[in-house]
Amino acid sequence: MRFSAFPLFTVVLVGLASHAVQAQNTALDARIAQLATQEEPKVIAWRRDIHEHPELGNQETRTAALVAAHLRKLGLEVQTGAARTGVIGVLRGGRPGPVVALRADMDGLPLTETSGLPFASKVTTTYLGQPVGVMHACGHDTHVAMLMGAAEVLSQVKADLPGTVKFIFQPAEEGSLPGVEGGAKLLVKEGVLDKPKVDAVFGVHIQAQTEVGTLAYRSGGEMASSDRFTIKVHGKGAHGAYPWNSVDPVVTAAQIILGLQTIVSRQVKLTDDAAVVTVGTLNAGVRYNVIPPDVEMSGTVRALNPEVQKQIWASIRRIATNIAESAGATAEVTIEPYVPVTTNDPALTARMLPTLLAAAGPEHVREIKAVTGGEDFSFYQEKVPGLFLFVGGMPKGQDPATAADHHTAGFRIDESGLTLGVKTLATLAADYLNTAPAKQK
Ligand code: NI
Repeated sequence: MRFSAFPLFTVVLVGLASHAVQAQNTALDARIAQLATQEEPKVIAWRRDIHEHPELGNQETRTAALVAAHLRKLGLEVQTGAARTGVIGVLRGGRPGPVVALRADMDGLPLTETSGLPFASKVTTTYLGQPVGVMHACGHDTHVAMLMGAAEVLSQVKADLPGTVKFIFQPAEEGSLPGVEGGAKLLVKEGVLDKPKVDAVFGVHIQAQTEVGTLAYRSGGEMASSDRFTIKVHGKGAHGAYPWNSVDPVVTAAQIILGLQTIVSRQVKLTDDAAVVTVGTLNAGVRYNVIPPDVEMSGTVRALNPEVQKQIWASIRRIATNIAESAGATAEVTIEPYVPVTTNDPALTARMLPTLLAAAGPEHVREIKAVTGGEDFSFYQEKVPGLFLFVGGMPKGQDPATAADHHTAGFRIDESGLTLGVKTLATLAADYLNTAPAKQK
């Protein structure tokens, strides 16, 4: 997941009548909860081991070997090398039924850890030509450990599961090197959602500024699509003292940047969905008194609705092209879609809400406002209904403002939050299978 500030102060407590707060399958869920609690020491040990040995995207070989060995020990059907380093495990329940997938991402980030933890990473590597540390700075180590725990829990109750659980340990959520395809997009392309065909997918993300014990979710657009755009403005260079001999791409680029700011403020219906257009790079010229012939800028688009996303793409092209034309220049616009909107299927979300309320307790389940960070879980949700949740990983009572953010060198997670993640993943799978409409059984 790629996000910074989490909208903690915008949460709304979900208040539901107590009759809606029952577990969907009380006896099985109670057993799962008990098994999840028993898993805690193992989950923490796996997490620390993975944290100390982080691997960048598409290089998660040690992590994958650990996962594959664990799933084989549990008796699952195991496929390795999925999208290079991914591991897929299939657990067949005691009775026939639908197929539910649970997903964890496995990759770390190129950051030198400063958390001070006894199991902090000392791993170093070279990233895009630069020497740098490697660190689990987004908590994907906890995701792997929680899903390993959920696999162990569910394998112990498999006789009572009417259907199949597919465990997806995914590489490269944080993105692959430029020009390289990977992560969820490649897994889906390779057919991770087929054979057996997946009916629904669930995933969790640990959250460093949300209290331990809390589950947070949003129905519909939860996390933004993320696209990269590049605009090359071609003008005509000249001596800086004689601008009338130029077609100045610097001034034209400045007008385009201001024009782009009107997309969100003037064209997007903000009462429906938020959106972002950010220009992050601007490169022009080499000398103060030379008007260069070209300028290049790049930026990102975030949207919470695929239609708004397409509308923004069209606006960028129109504004850049026409402003350039008005100056006698030309603009070359390239838009590279990166991840789609993380959209929690409203019907699936409503169906699984009782599971969340039972797992965390109704007072600890929050419906949040949308996040403008992106997450490649969205590629699964483009194909099958999915639900992606946040699990609290901040010590109780801490001020979120003092908790180190995701993707920073001091990032930390309170491990006492992991058991809720294990329990939630395992219960979502069991409850989904047990509440499937009769025709699917
Ligand atoms: Ni992440």
